[in-house]
Amino acid sequence: MSDRRVLVNLRGLLTPDPARTWAVDRIPDAALALQGDRVAWLGRAADLPAGWKDAPRVDGGGSWASPGFVDPHTHLLFGGDRSGEFNRRLHGATYQQIAAEGGGIRETVRATRAASVEALVAAGEARLRAFRERGVVHLEVKTGYGLELEAESRLTAAYAELRRRGWSFDVTLLPAHDLAPEFGGDAEANARAVAEDWLPELVRRHPGVAAFCDVFVETGVYTADLGRRIFEAGRRLGLRPRVHADELSWTGGAELAAELGAASADHLMFCSEAGMKAMAAADVTPVLLPGTTLFLGMRDWAPARKMIEAGCRVALATDFNPGSCPCLDPLTILRLGCLQLRMTFEEAFTAMTLHAARSLGRADLGHLHPGARADVLLWDVGEMLEMVYWVGEPYRPRFIQA
Ligand code: NIG
Ligand code: FE
Repeated sequence: MSDRRVLVNLRGLLTPDPARTWAVDRIPDAALALQGDRVAWLGRAADLPAGWKDAPRVDGGGSWASPGFVDPHTHLLFGGDRSGEFNRRLHGATYQQIAAEGGGIRETVRATRAASVEALVAAGEARLRAFRERGVVHLEVKTGYGLELEAESRLTAAYAELRRRGWSFDVTLLPAHDLAPEFGGDAEANARAVAEDWLPELVRRHPGVAAFCDVFVETGVYTADLGRRIFEAGRRLGLRPRVHADELSWTGGAELAAELGAASADHLMFCSEAGMKAMAAADVTPVLLPGTTLFLGMRDWAPARKMIEAGCRVALATDFNPGSCPCLDPLTILRLGCLQLRMTFEEAFTAMTLHAARSLGRADLGHLHPGARADVLLWDVGEMLEMVYWVGEPYRPRFIQA
């Protein structure tokens, strides 16, 4: 039957094991049995069960097989870019200085407010294609460059259209990405508008599109108290919290995420030790974004080792956005995870697959054990570790698709 096939001629197969937090199975001379869009069996080719011996073969070409990457933190849709601001930063201005002058996120907000749904969809689709070419099969995507109801609604509509076209992602509403210019710095009034008007109206207009909501809890943006109010409103609408936490300074974001039972707390360069313990106890996934630390020229790498030691299931993501990390490349993030966050290759790989998927509640992504979605990547490498070792090489996978 055509929906049964066996992937053979694999040099090896590398996959996290969903039953164990950090264990990675490394199977040489592997085969993978696929039934429809699901994995049915994995193991050594020599051990293929009798019932699969006659199934059609797919030639793996001597490659390594892995699950697709999952990117659990992106700001996929926005208008314009910020290369001009980047040039200013190269001449000495800081990210915070530019933001305080009304640039930064606000600059992208102006360009996004001027963009049509069609233009947002076209830009989004090109970016999704770029992610996919690099092995990303599922993402988390945020709104957040509208900062007012109508523009946030257009962003949400654009995501609905991209999903209709078959792209695989989860949507997070982030109208609290910054203080909107209309509120003149009144964070409390802005938080009230987000909680009482914008979030309910976005969910009413676009039912079933978003699963999460997010708040930028940061000095000069939203305090943890205002964040809590917005998250509680989101929860009443069925949206689970993901928190932009402790990115540029300590603001109690990790502690807030733990208190709320958030799906994730993201960034965490300035996370406290108490915050790490609280996240481990509350099973909040720390989503670390080392591309942002790199691109902002900071030295404060998120304390991944301490988080792993505290018992957290750390995930890695790109944070793809026009200001602090214009990077669509999961390999760059894997490399930074190993080289700057001091994760082992197996840890970084698990963080961009299994733990990333788990933070999105996707038990069937990020691994190749039975029941997983059959998104298999084939890599032309001698050992999977090489993709980190050959640090500038633009590896691209081939796909065996679900
Ligand atoms: O994740 N922290 C807030 N949001 C983005 C930056 C957005 C921007 O600069 O446009 C981030 O780093
Ligand atoms: Fe972000």
